[in-house]
Amino acid sequence: MTTAFKNRLDYIQHTFAPESDALRDVRESLTDPNDQIYLSPQEGKLLQVLITMAGVRKIVEIGTLGGYSALWMAAALPAGGQIFTLEKDPARAVRAAGHFARFDADKKITLKTGDALQTLPQLENDGPFDMVFIDADKLNYMNYLNWAEKNVRKGGLIVGDNTFLFDSVWRGAPADNVRKTAFDAMQNFNKRLGDANLYRGILLPTEEGMTVAVKLF
Ligand code: SAH
Ligand code: DHB
Ligand code: MG
Repeated sequence: MTTAFKNRLDYIQHTFAPESDALRDVRESLTDPNDQIYLSPQEGKLLQVLITMAGVRKIVEIGTLGGYSALWMAAALPAGGQIFTLEKDPARAVRAAGHFARFDADKKITLKTGDALQTLPQLENDGPFDMVFIDADKLNYMNYLNWAEKNVRKGGLIVGDNTFLFDSVWRGAPADNVRKTAFDAMQNFNKRLGDANLYRGILLPTEEGMTVAVKLF
């Protein structure tokens, strides 16, 4: 990251995205290097803006980790709003559930433990949804998009994190740490959400890339 870019992000965070004490506690509890993959406060605030702009009440999140992004989203939901968040790793799910209970967000947030490919079909009766936030295994982004396309209402949002795929998609080739299957999945994911006949979408140039799209059909 260049100095100017870092200074911009610091300015944005101070001015627009100060963390609540609760959110800081959750973030600071995620000390394992493998867990350093949660959203930034600026990205959390972006999700909040999107939620309010699109009148979002019911959300599916794929990839919970410690619940940091879910807690950002929950803080922007109106009364009666709901988040279903899906986590494959049992230890991470237990930790997230503790955070949700501790911050009294567990009435708004329902956590489902297991592989999202298995748990998503169980959510179909709770839909249609206003927003799906995809932030789990990159290999399955097209599978998640196919599910979201069927279960998000017209005018609802589909959002994906890491859609530069670690600077692979714009280079036109997978980076060393990226599998070809994940590369193909992410290319197809962005191509579909960029199709102006189906979506009003854009890839926002956050550090990791965040694709945001309104479903037009
Ligand atoms: N959204 C979180 C970060 C998620 S990191 C935040 O910003 O706070 C990605 C998470 O997806 C990890 O916790 C990982 O265990 C989970 N994951 C990976 N593959 C998954 C799958 N197939 N189903 C559900 N969760 C999965
Ligand atoms: C990774 C995953 C993420 O969702 C993220 O935001 C950053 C990194 C990863 O798997 O390395
Ligand atoms: Mg991510």
